[in-house]
Amino acid sequence: MSAIQAPRGTFDVLPADAARRAVLEDRAHRVLGAAGYARIETPTFEATELFARGVGESTDIVQKEMYTFDDGGGRSLTLRPEGTAPVCRAYLEHGMHKLAQPVKLWYLSSFYRAEAPQRGRYRQFWQVGAEAIGSPSAETDAELILLLAELLGTVGVREVRLRLSSLGTPATRAEYREELTAFLHAHEDGLSPEVVSRIDLNPMRAFDADDRSTAATMRDAPLLLDRLAPADAEHFARVRELLDAAEQPYELDPTLVRGLDYYARTVFEFASDALGAQSGVGGGGRYDGLIEQLGGSPTPASGWAAGVERMLLAAGDLPVAAEAVDLFVAQAAPEAASGAFALAHEARHAGLRAQMELAGRSLKGQLRHADRVGARYVAIVGPPGEGVGFRDMESGDQTELEARSVIARVLRGSSL
Ligand code: HAM
Repeated sequence: MSAIQAPRGTFDVLPADAARRAVLEDRAHRVLGAAGYARIETPTFEATELFARGVGESTDIVQKEMYTFDDGGGRSLTLRPEGTAPVCRAYLEHGMHKLAQPVKLWYLSSFYRAEAPQRGRYRQFWQVGAEAIGSPSAETDAELILLLAELLGTVGVREVRLRLSSLGTPATRAEYREELTAFLHAHEDGLSPEVVSRIDLNPMRAFDADDRSTAATMRDAPLLLDRLAPADAEHFARVRELLDAAEQPYELDPTLVRGLDYYARTVFEFASDALGAQSGVGGGGRYDGLIEQLGGSPTPASGWAAGVERMLLAAGDLPVAAEAVDLFVAQAAPEAASGAFALAHEARHAGLRAQMELAGRSLKGQLRHADRVGARYVAIVGPPGEGVGFRDMESGDQTELEARSVIARVLRGSSL
């Protein structure tokens, strides 16, 4: 029989990876906790309706990438493809509008998208996310952007660029879309056939095409940033002013589009040139209409999410500390097994990091193993009634102790 493998696009987090992830989690906690963001976790699956309404029926995520299933009782559930809609659902469900606003939340959770797997793109992946719900201010957007920059910096993500834009309101966007579509149809001669075929489906894509003729034509295309309503333009100017004051570099990118429908006003994306094709390491923006879309009263909000695997791929070395071992409990003979077991248990109860022999090695083998795991001391337990050989693994010195003194001796610590 052939062995079963993990599904395509998924991966195992092995111990060395888990240690790097723990460092990242700790840094995210420090950066976001210090700014008053509190941790939230929502369920792995939600009502499909939440994403259809929240992320948007016409997005690639909802159209092609969701893992949707019937729960056996006729309800359609979906493995969460992203975290913003679930956090907004939780905000509404738990009456968080009654708390001091904005409610600032962060998460580190797994997400699921049926995308074509490649380096940095998986079907199950993790995100660190931050959401500030209940404030319309440009300060909230700028603070969020700076927090993500800080996180990427503390994790050591290299060669980071920030792209920034504003999408205005949905009404401005709809008008702009018509204007851009009309422009593209009027200039079809200068566009590649592929771009022409997608004009009505997704006119913004024309900005990304890299054939010379299309790129030249698009230089005269109208830009959404030039069409913002005065209040939106002012909001965006304030975000930029705050980023400038904080000396946070960014590139204005009027063609920045995000793959989710809920954005309004500020949008941003951090990319790392240290990554290959999947260079987007984190992104987000303001989503003032989402809570209302989900059945709440109009509530402004803003946030971001950053991919854990992409951050780790782009990060430098993270200082992963090896798990220390204070005491290894070895057995001098098979009759010592119960005494050794009891001593290891007591040592852990006393707060020591203690391991014991579990593989039936010879005494010599046990000492070699204790050395391999980095044990500071080894207790060699004899048969009932006999003492314990107590070895300092740094100096190699060994003395005889009574079993009941071993723990105090390790706690005291100094070499023999
Ligand atoms: P997103 O841009 O779809 O935004 O995803 C955020 C980040 O998640 C990406 O920049 C990338 O690092 C990572 N990511 C996305 N898909 C994959 C994948 N298939 N494999 C590995 N990593 C991936 C959102 O999800 C929004 N909810 C962000 C947000 C929060 N906006 C407002 N608040």
